[in-house]
Amino acid sequence: EYKNPLGVDIDLETGVIPGAKKLVRRLSDLKGYFVDEKAYEELLKENPVVYEVYAIEQEEKDGDLNFATTVLYPGKVGREFFFTKGHYHSKADRAEIYYGIKGRGGMLLQTPEGKAEWIEMGPGTVVYVPPYWAHRTVNTGDEPFIFLAIYPADAGHDYGSIAEKGFSKLVVEENGEVRVVDSPKWKE
Ligand code: 6PG
Ligand code: NI
Repeated sequence: EYKNPLGVDIDLETGVIPGAKKLVRRLSDLKGYFVDEKAYEELLKENPVVYEVYAIEQEEKDGDLNFATTVLYPGKVGREFFFTKGHYHSKADRAEIYYGIKGRGGMLLQTPEGKAEWIEMGPGTVVYVPPYWAHRTVNTGDEPFIFLAIYPADAGHDYGSIAEKGFSKLVVEENGEVRVVDSPKWKE
């Protein structure tokens, strides 16, 4: 039995995919993720939405594909720019493609050994996430950063080790500039 093909138009202003499943992550869902705990507690009084995901997902089967937009809002916790949780794929060898739609930001990628890479993203940027690399997006601008991700339907999300140790690098604002610096929370 063949599945039906599907065409949908992403709203390029808002990132919304019609008919997609919507997921909302507020600051309270990111407890322990930011380095500056005082700034986190302070901002928690407002508990802003940090990002939303609009996903069209298939059954977790080998060979099929999912796709999702993410709308990552601008903001900071202390000096750290708002980011997505970040994850490895549960099937760690599953790769992924990102495509920048609106706003500015970037992706932090990291191997299990802690080797990190930072790739800047804007509208039109394509990022290839190779197998085994954890990935987190960061909004370094002052408008929503919107992008599309396309990933194997059986990839899954493994949040565990990132939730615990974070990435080896942080993306912060320093004297009005975007800096990628070593994370004090990172330990081998
Ligand atoms: C995926 C993609 C992407 C990601 C979102 C939210 O594998 O599904 O990498 O859709 O899930 O940008 O980021 P987190 O899953 O890290 O919260
Ligand atoms: Ni992913």
